[in-house]
Amino acid sequence: MTDAIVEVRDAYKHFPVTQSFFNAVKRISKEVIHAVDGVSIDIREKETLGLIGESGSGKTTLGWLVARLHNLTRGTIRLDGKDITTLEGSGLRAIRRKVQVVFQDPVGSLDPRLRVWQIVGEPARAQGPVSRAELRSRVAELLPTVGLPGGSLDQYPHEFSGGGRQRLSLARALIVHPKLIVLDEPTSALDVAVQAQILNRLVTLQREMGLSYLMITHNVAAVRYVADRVAVMYLGKFAEVGNVRDVLEHPVHPYTKALLAALPNASSTPPWSGRAPRCVPPGRGNR
Ligand SMILES: Nc1ncnc2c1ncn2[C@@H]1O[C@H](COP(=O)(O)OP(=O)(O)OP(=O)(O)O)[C@@H](O)[C@H]1O
Ligand SMILES: [Mg+2]
Repeated sequence: MTDAIVEVRDAYKHFPVTQSFFNAVKRISKEVIHAVDGVSIDIREKETLGLIGESGSGKTTLGWLVARLHNLTRGTIRLDGKDITTLEGSGLRAIRRKVQVVFQDPVGSLDPRLRVWQIVGEPARAQGPVSRAELRSRVAELLPTVGLPGGSLDQYPHEFSGGGRQRLSLARALIVHPKLIVLDEPTSALDVAVQAQILNRLVTLQREMGLSYLMITHNVAAVRYVADRVAVMYLGKFAEVGNVRDVLEHPVHPYTKALLAALPNASSTPPWSGRAPRCVPPGRGNR
């Protein structure tokens, strides 16, 4: 028996490099980018797995593989014990419910022409027919969960602050009751105070809904604050995986040491944290 929600085994994702005219004429073989290059990891029930590494190391690509937004070049992904590596059509739609993604760019990922109820309700609509009235009532019920007023159903994304838009993204992920949310840089566009609110909200939601998170970030202080384990990615592979404290305080791999030395916030406690996150009482400090 395993408590893994997701099991990634020996996963590869290679992207072909766009071929130049010169190479095509000379018949020089196509090169590929090894974005994810032989990665194995479990994401367990109710855990937060942090994923850190320099830009271009393959973090987003791995997140997209887990959500099956990319197809694997090689390897397998199991979700809840079921092989989802090559699922298509309705099978793939069903797993979309269980694994949601909050994208790196909260502005670009929200369609500016749609209203809140349409944006947040979209994943539910994608799962099957649902009436407008029902969708609106489901969204209205959900908004307070992420700290937004239920009455903002007819607003547009540009009417929200950066933190507000990130809450909308979160609500959109939650509406289909996922088991795992891939959070790609969930707080990178936000100032420190708002980062704290969003991170606290994530912790509260995880506890209340039994969620698992794959949290991709450059913010090591945030990983220290919310993650249980952390994986350090380097050139498409894992340099190191382990318990957050072990990896951040006693890194073994030279790359992890170099990465932590290069990041300004790596050794500090988060500026917002006066206490351990799991002690934040429900409904407090998480707006
Ligand atoms: N759709 C794509 N087509 C071609 N190459 C891609 C594609 N997506 C990613 N890559 C390449 O794969 C590598 C890994 O990219 P990825 O976006 O996963 O890195 P990352 O660790 O998320 O970086 P960042 O921290 O900057 O977001 C990079 O070299 C990138 O250029
Ligand atoms: Mg990325």
